[in-house]
Amino acid sequence: MKHPEIEKRIKELMSEMTLEEKVGQLHQAGGSLVGAFDLTLEEILTMVADGRMTEEEGHNMLSEARRDWHEDDLRAGRIGSYIGVLSAEEMNRLQHIAVEETRLGIPLINGVDVIHGFRTITPIPLAESCAWDMELWQRTARMSAEEATAAGVHMTFSPMVDVSKDPRWGRIAESAGEDAMLNGLYGEAKVRGYQSDDLTRHDAMAACVKHFAAYGAAEGGRDYNRVDMSPQRFEEEYLPSYERAVKAGARAVMPAFNDLSGVPCSVNKKLLTDILRKRWGFDGMTISDANAIAECINHGIAADRRDAARQALNAGMNMDMTSGCFLDHVKELVEAGEVSMDTLDEAVSNILRLKFELGLFDDPYRSNAEEEKAAMLKPEYRALAREAAQKSMVLLKNSGLLPLKEGVRIGLAGAMASNGDEMCGTWAGAVQPGDCKSIRDGMDEERIGYAMITEEPLPDCDVFVCAIGERKAESGEAASRASLELTEADIALLKRLKESGKPVVTVVFAGRPLCLGPAVEYADAVLMAWHPGTEAGPAILDLLFGRVNPSAKLTASFPAATGQCPTLYYDHIRTGRPAGKFKYTSKYLDAPVEPLFPFGFGLSYTSYRYSEISATQTGNGIHAEITVQNTGDRAGDEIVQCYFRDPAAQRVRPVRKLAAFEKVTLQPGEIKRVAFDIPETALGYYDQDMNFVIDDGLIEIHIGGNVRDTLLADVDYRNA
Ligand code: BGC
Repeated sequence: MKHPEIEKRIKELMSEMTLEEKVGQLHQAGGSLVGAFDLTLEEILTMVADGRMTEEEGHNMLSEARRDWHEDDLRAGRIGSYIGVLSAEEMNRLQHIAVEETRLGIPLINGVDVIHGFRTITPIPLAESCAWDMELWQRTARMSAEEATAAGVHMTFSPMVDVSKDPRWGRIAESAGEDAMLNGLYGEAKVRGYQSDDLTRHDAMAACVKHFAAYGAAEGGRDYNRVDMSPQRFEEEYLPSYERAVKAGARAVMPAFNDLSGVPCSVNKKLLTDILRKRWGFDGMTISDANAIAECINHGIAADRRDAARQALNAGMNMDMTSGCFLDHVKELVEAGEVSMDTLDEAVSNILRLKFELGLFDDPYRSNAEEEKAAMLKPEYRALAREAAQKSMVLLKNSGLLPLKEGVRIGLAGAMASNGDEMCGTWAGAVQPGDCKSIRDGMDEERIGYAMITEEPLPDCDVFVCAIGERKAESGEAASRASLELTEADIALLKRLKESGKPVVTVVFAGRPLCLGPAVEYADAVLMAWHPGTEAGPAILDLLFGRVNPSAKLTASFPAATGQCPTLYYDHIRTGRPAGKFKYTSKYLDAPVEPLFPFGFGLSYTSYRYSEISATQTGNGIHAEITVQNTGDRAGDEIVQCYFRDPAAQRVRPVRKLAAFEKVTLQPGEIKRVAFDIPETALGYYDQDMNFVIDDGLIEIHIGGNVRDTLLADVDYRNA
């Protein structure tokens, strides 16, 4: 929301600015690497990823390298923002140049990818979404902001709220999974946590909602690829999560790399102006994705960098992340009348507004080296990371083996058992080697005895704990996969352990849903640990030994075979021939059509019974209730899910759609009545002519502990 005092100051400042100074504000610069080696950053990262260099070697090389922050450009007023300054001292040094050595003293804004923690790492977003817990999401975001701002960060390129229905896409790791509402709620909680209720606080950072829009629908699950979909689907399934996060007050938005039905998001006026500003009333800043403006040439819609700059600025892009197209060409575009001064002024004022809102003009130096040091990895942060990890890991199978008894003799196996650095997952740039704890570290810390399994023969033990799955570099950006199967080495290990006759617990690490058929076949218990962050090992042990009862539920379906992608997701559209025994139905010859584990699925050490479902129409929606009883002998948190289905609509609708959920704590034997109010708008959709409609007639309400196991109540709905 605009503040009159800030608007006045923006106006005054802009009246002083030259055309060149305005253009300078639009440019976000990165630091070029300078060091005593001949490799580029990309080459180092590739060598680490393919094993030619160890992680530690790569890390050392990068930390030894200096960054060239192009200070001459900064002094000349040609830089408005940096990406990736990772220390308070460095940020203060650069800020001093901006404030004291440029003509107008306009402060810099420093944007960094703080995705799931800065130094203390919480589970990857896909994992944390499995907690279905807004309060937790907000608290972990607050912690991220406290650490990151102490290191000189003013804005995070988060939350990502791209609905991700295809696990081949590596960036599903950064999302809240395949449901629109969950992504929206996740984004809202993160925005609140990062920004707090007062952006001028030293520990508040601006949130940048990304990637606007529908990046998660990249064709084939391949990164940076096209997105093409009906306007109805876009409005119903993809747009709502961005809207929710923007309306929660996010002060920045990042358009996506992809094209949307033929128009790259970076130059998409419909998105950046019509929807974002006019429809939603957004008055914050837009910032391109890295180099994305220049990439409009590769998309084949811009003749050259000048043309790309013209299209992006005219569409509603404000800041150019690192491509330099704005810096190089906006002056001449304005002089040639191809971009109006009003358009430029609008972009500049959106950028200055954020700087004023953050309080950077009055208070540009927000931290120092000492404060930074004291802010990192505090014991209470480690405790929160552990809690978040406990609440994010999904128990997928348990044939009675878990929880383990204290004193049990463990054989610890698998490539992921002892490498703490692999636990943080994608996007954890400020983490130092040794920060994160593996299962083995956790056992050492607690003095739990174990034998490491490396080669034959297998040692004498009571149970095997086998840690398998993806390394951190195998998910995230530019890490799409054509196969979601476990590796041959992992499968062979599981088989060998199974053949010993001893019980096996498999702990799976990954940034995405994988095909876990062999894990289910060869192990007695399977815990999906994802990439759980700093306190991975201790949190896993808390769950394995039953000190904490697992409660997380999947927010993305787990495939039985890779070929089920991209139609795997729970809210798929109905077909005229749903899969059945008859040959000519919608299925595969060589794989099941159902996922191995459905959306919303997750076990616990207790059991729940659902009964007495009811649903009635209220003045403005549907009220539904169900009774849930804890029928086991341990307290637990159950995530109760309420879905609906419209069996006779004007357009084909999903088989099920999540409408509401509630996480309830139940003591052994305890019974609770859980109630949901589904607003009428949640039942609506777009008809063929793009009118938003809500039907009269039957609505089915399905409530249960996952999308497959639900009770049903019917409502004869009359549109209010
Ligand atoms: C990613 C963004 C990220 C940006 C800056 C891009 O490659 O798509 O999500 O914020 O880099 O690091």
